Amino acid sequence: MLEVSSIDTFYGRIQALWGVSLTIHEAETVALVGANGAGKTTLLNTISGLLRPASGSIEFGGKRIDGLQSHVIVEMGISHIPEGKRLFPDMSVHENLEMGAYLQRAWKQREETLEQVYQLFPKLKARQGQLARTLSGGEQQMVAMGRGLMSKPRVCIIDEPSSGLAPIVVDEIFRIIEGLRDQNIAIFLVEQNVQQALELADRAYVLENGRVILTGESKKLLQEELIRKAYLGL
Ligand SMILES: Nc1ncnc2c1ncn2[C@@H]1O[C@H](COP(=O)(O)OP(=O)(O)O)[C@@H](O)[C@H]1O
Ligand SMILES: [Mg+2]
Repeated sequence: MLEVSSIDTFYGRIQALWGVSLTIHEAETVALVGANGAGKTTLLNTISGLLRPASGSIEFGGKRIDGLQSHVIVEMGISHIPEGKRLFPDMSVHENLEMGAYLQRAWKQREETLEQVYQLFPKLKARQGQLARTLSGGEQQMVAMGRGLMSKPRVCIIDEPSSGLAPIVVDEIFRIIEGLRDQNIAIFLVEQNVQQALELADRAYVLENGRVILTGESKKLLQEELIRKAYLGL
């Protein structure tokens, strides 16, 4: 469904991604792990059209998407849930969620989608009139994820959803991501919690210094010496 082929991405003259290739199939959960500064966010931003690769290509459902504007890419069915939530602090939960549906294909169905989002996040339903800035960190992350779902995506790319959250809230976020996967939405997940991410995902890619250094089934990667030493501290 999503095919990234040999992309190079630069910030000015500094190269951040080097020949990165990856594939995400329909309804598959794929994890992306790697140290701080490895290029994970750069890769997600390149897929969602916030950055443009200098070379290589990105195809979605057989259509070339690199070089398209990010709102067009959302409209095609790729939803990017950025790190750090980026909510509208003085808008309510309900209004923040609606902002995710302003695109053509999602707007007409927004009431129905909203009900689905509230089913997935009952806590948000109870707080739908509350201003986003008054929510806890975990609740804000749920709004960010709910907003991402309002565009009715076929694939969600999620950047470090558990960052800065308490372990018990992290578990809740992981359960919700598992719920998305049951709805046939493909997930490309960046995570610092490597163990949990690999347990959840079907496959994973390991990024180091802007390059994919390892890929495979998550269950197998959990057994890899390199992963166990470098990322799981075993
Ligand atoms: N806006 C930017 N301008 C210049 N360099 C950047 C910018 N954003 C990230 N970088 C650099 O690109 C590399 C990859 O960063 P990033 O994709 O944020 O890594 P990660 O998400 O894996 O922590 C790092 O060396 C970082 O310093
Ligand atoms: Mg990052």
